[in-house]
Amino acid sequence: MDSAANGRARARESASRDDDSTEAEITKVSAPPAPKPPAAAPARTAETLSITDNRTGKSYEIPIQDGTIRAMDLRQIKIKPEDFGIMSYDPAFTNTAACRSAITEIDGDKGILNYRGYPIEQLAEESSYLETAYLILHGELPARQQYEEWVHNITHHTILHENIKKFIDGFRYDAHPMGMLISTVAAMSTFYKDAKDIFNPKVRREHSYRLLAKVPTLAAFAYRHSTGLPFAYPDNDLSYTGNFLNMLFKMTEVRYKPNPILERALDVLFILHADHEQNCSASAMRGVGSSQVDPYSAVAAAVAALYGPLHGGANEMVLRMLTEIGSVTRVPDFVKRVKSGETRLMGFGHRVYKNYDPRAKIIKRMADQVFEVTGRNPLLDIALELERIALQDEYFVSRRLYPNVDFYSGLIYQSMRFPVDMFPVLFAIPRTVGWLAQWEEMLLDPEQKIARPRQIYTGRERREYVPMERRG
Ligand SMILES: CC(C)(COP(=O)(O)OP(=O)(O)OC[C@H]1O[C@@H](n2cnc3c(N)ncnc32)[C@H](O)[C@@H]1OP(=O)(O)O)[C@@H](O)C(=O)NCCC(=O)NCCS
Repeated sequence: MDSAANGRARARESASRDDDSTEAEITKVSAPPAPKPPAAAPARTAETLSITDNRTGKSYEIPIQDGTIRAMDLRQIKIKPEDFGIMSYDPAFTNTAACRSAITEIDGDKGILNYRGYPIEQLAEESSYLETAYLILHGELPARQQYEEWVHNITHHTILHENIKKFIDGFRYDAHPMGMLISTVAAMSTFYKDAKDIFNPKVRREHSYRLLAKVPTLAAFAYRHSTGLPFAYPDNDLSYTGNFLNMLFKMTEVRYKPNPILERALDVLFILHADHEQNCSASAMRGVGSSQVDPYSAVAAAVAALYGPLHGGANEMVLRMLTEIGSVTRVPDFVKRVKSGETRLMGFGHRVYKNYDPRAKIIKRMADQVFEVTGRNPLLDIALELERIALQDEYFVSRRLYPNVDFYSGLIYQSMRFPVDMFPVLFAIPRTVGWLAQWEEMLLDPEQKIARPRQIYTGRERREYVPMERRG
């Protein structure tokens, strides 16, 4: 086993420690058993970590706050005063908190997701996307007047500058809508030069409205471009999701009337995708934003991060996977290929959730309501069979791989007539508010600076330049 696989195996071991069924798997890869604690260990009250450096015999007391030590506290551990000091090595940030955040709370072991303290299940049941977006950005649910102003402000920024249509026209007919979205969001920074004034709260709010309002318009225009249809302009009398459906699907009718069940289903899907703490795209938003660039450029970076198949591109990959499997009878063969490492079961597994993703549960329930309107998606049976087999198979159980948000969402999107290429776009639209909230929190946090990780240099030592004629 290579060292990376070894490390993953160890990480899995610690993640699965409570799971009896993983015992055989663990012994294959485990380190020596931990020593048993003394029978009556004295009660310890100090919130510190004692570290002894065996190279020098020196001991250090490092404060623990919120179950965390500060990586900078390790720098005092040195052999000689001129040494750099100890760093922590954490590729992919699997055990590093990069910020303090009050926006979204996830308990991956229990399968809990709360925005600003409110459980996702209650928001999906009771709230609307725009109300949830207000909550995420402001920290509290709005009073009626605040809500009305918020909806008004977002609704009245939906129109794009006509020149943006020219960029969209310049894309090839088969351009992926995520590529178009990344580019056009970035291009918007050239229209709003004052957006650079990021420490002015009024300017920040103004451009937050613009981004929340215009990202659906950009997304819909990208879709219309790829289908060769004329752009459909926003209808400000419709809801946020109703208007989005209008800009996508309006044909020759004078006014587009969204189906209320599908409109609500999309609104709930938007609520479920609104934020998810320090994932890859939120980290991109914070990292790029920490250079103090304008929010359009930072959101473009976040959309780019979301495009990858391991992040927002996963629901697209799920649909392609289900289509490739083709029938329920071929599911066992496919599971075999996953277990041999030939392919991954897309829509399964999560860096944080080691339990059923709470969003996947809500989506699975909602699928029935959608299918009553659209007709049952034939790929659903394949998905249900995959889930049934995976949830009782040792490979998935021992690695704590459960369905994530992307496993069922693609089936709903497909039934609602969204082409597969649009799936990650449907993730980017609602996630815009999460990115904006993460960005603002980062900007206002006095502890944050430009993001700049360290490295362990593994290259050649200094050597002298060799002229080309003397190279071998
Ligand atoms: C989400 C994801 C990237 C998290 O990855 P991670 O936290 O880095 O976990 P790892 O890739 O280290 O996986 C741990 C182990 O589970 C296995 N694993 C993880 N996800 C798997 C999947 N979907 N199918 C099969 N095996 C999987 C890995 O092969 C690894 O096994 P190993 O220890 O024998 O090498 C990963 O689960 C994945 O690729 N899932 C599919 C894509 C997806 O649905 N993404 C959307 C996330 S919302």
